[in-house]
Amino acid sequence: MGKEAANSIPAVKILFINACLRGRERSRTDQLCRAFLDGLSRMANEQRLVVEEVNLAAEKLPCYGAEEIEQRAALLDAGRLEDPFFDFARQYKAADLILCGAPYWDFSFPAALKSYFERICVEEYTFCYTDEGPAGLCAFRDFVYITTCGGHVGGLDLGTDYARAIAGFTGQGAFHAYACEGLDMLGNHPARILDKARGDMAALAESISLPQHALHR
Ligand SMILES: Cc1cc2nc3c(=O)[nH]c(=O)nc-3n(C[C@H](O)[C@H](O)[C@H](O)COP(=O)(O)O)c2cc1C
Repeated sequence: MGKEAANSIPAVKILFINACLRGRERSRTDQLCRAFLDGLSRMANEQRLVVEEVNLAAEKLPCYGAEEIEQRAALLDAGRLEDPFFDFARQYKAADLILCGAPYWDFSFPAALKSYFERICVEEYTFCYTDEGPAGLCAFRDFVYITTCGGHVGGLDLGTDYARAIAGFTGQGAFHAYACEGLDMLGNHPARILDKARGDMAALAESISLPQHALHR
């Protein structure tokens, strides 16, 4: 396909919510997320993938307090959803695929991710209430949550549970989770564990069917 024709095809919008606060060089979770994105790129035939990344280490979002709640209520009352206050929610709502990467910290994930989730949960925009209960209004077909842990999460992976709840609340898409465990345990070999996990990322990417709208208008 010619370059001009390829550019006229609507892109598959991938949103990478990056809560890997130790940064690209050091974070194993970040490395697995990028392996997953590489896998997706290999899966794309003629689809054009556009990855937008929200780097929560750089964003340093304050958690919501009285001021933010009042500001949000006033903007919603005025119907001003185009306000920059809702930039994160707008971007999240439009994504075809959401990848959320976060290390396992104290039974869940870094607080920075909670601050982000506070910004994307907007009533009558990313979710609404119906007679049957809450309904998600976001476009994503798949929500992928990747974490790595020092030990074993056992039955207490509240980060994955939380992300699953957010995905179910804001959209209708499938939820996929992956936890790479035991990276800091004495006697374990983190490099070997990560090698296997990188292979798992390729398989995870293969399990996703990229939206066909990017191939057929
Ligand atoms: C603040 C903090 C809290 C952590 N809490 C846990 C925990 O509760 N359970 C666990 O198994 N590992 C815990 N760990 C270890 C991390 O889950 C592990 O090192 C992970 O691979 C870090 O991901 P990263 O390399 O992407 O930063 C914690 C690490 C930090 C820095």
